Amino acid sequence: MVGLDIHNIVILTGAGISAESGLATFRGPDGLWEGHRVEDVCTPQALARNAALVHRFYDERRAKLSEVTPNPAHEALAALDRAWPGDLLIVTQNVDDLHERAGAARLLHMHGELKSALCAACGRAVPWRGPLPPGSVCGGCGQPRLRPDIVFFGEMPYEMERIDAALADADLFVSIGTSSAVYPAAGFVQTARHHGARTLELNLDPSAGSFYFEESRLGPASELVPALVRELLG
Ligand code: APR
Repeated sequence: MVGLDIHNIVILTGAGISAESGLATFRGPDGLWEGHRVEDVCTPQALARNAALVHRFYDERRAKLSEVTPNPAHEALAALDRAWPGDLLIVTQNVDDLHERAGAARLLHMHGELKSALCAACGRAVPWRGPLPPGSVCGGCGQPRLRPDIVFFGEMPYEMERIDAALADADLFVSIGTSSAVYPAAGFVQTARHHGARTLELNLDPSAGSFYFEESRLGPASELVPALVRELLG
């Protein structure tokens, strides 16, 4: 699959890459969307209707981060990031900090980050570690409008222009640990193919997007990702 004509790589990751670190996925057994309704914790309407419930949902997930560590899949991608001479961009749908803690640098969070708070009044994002009570005051504008810096359903993901530009230049697009259930991320494989990239999916199970990939490898990310990085670095 992987040839020497690969210079620019885009990697999309989803909840499956963090599963072996102990973080819940969304749609698998015991998935987050099994215990909560998206409509109650991950929409602008939910925030307006019951901010305490929404903030508590993300406070619980933020607190969990201190109990988990990056797994070999995160470590392998960080090693690839450090060693790869061409362009490389890791686009994660995840809001955990495991890619950063493994050392990845060429990384962006398209769905936001648990360790950031966003001011709904002035748009400023600030690092955040502990609980974020509704009504927390923004240090920039002074308004009591800080909310979780999470892209809710119906909101625009972050840095879409940067992602589209990277996909247009990609020679290889790799999707890791995602059900391909949510757009625009689920459409990246088609954009990459349209621009002539090779496409590879690494996932525990077949996904809704498997059909679009040139190759799908099924198995745990902690095994498949280090093997791919060894293949790429030679
Ligand atoms: N290794 C590889 N893949 C795994 C592993 C593993 N150890 N464990 C689970 N998976 C796969 C599952 O087979 C599934 O296809 O990870 C995928 C997780 O899918 P989802 O739970 O739907 O998570 P994700 O695809 O990241 O969700 C996308 O949906 O709810 C929104 O904003 C949320 O970013 C999230 C988006």
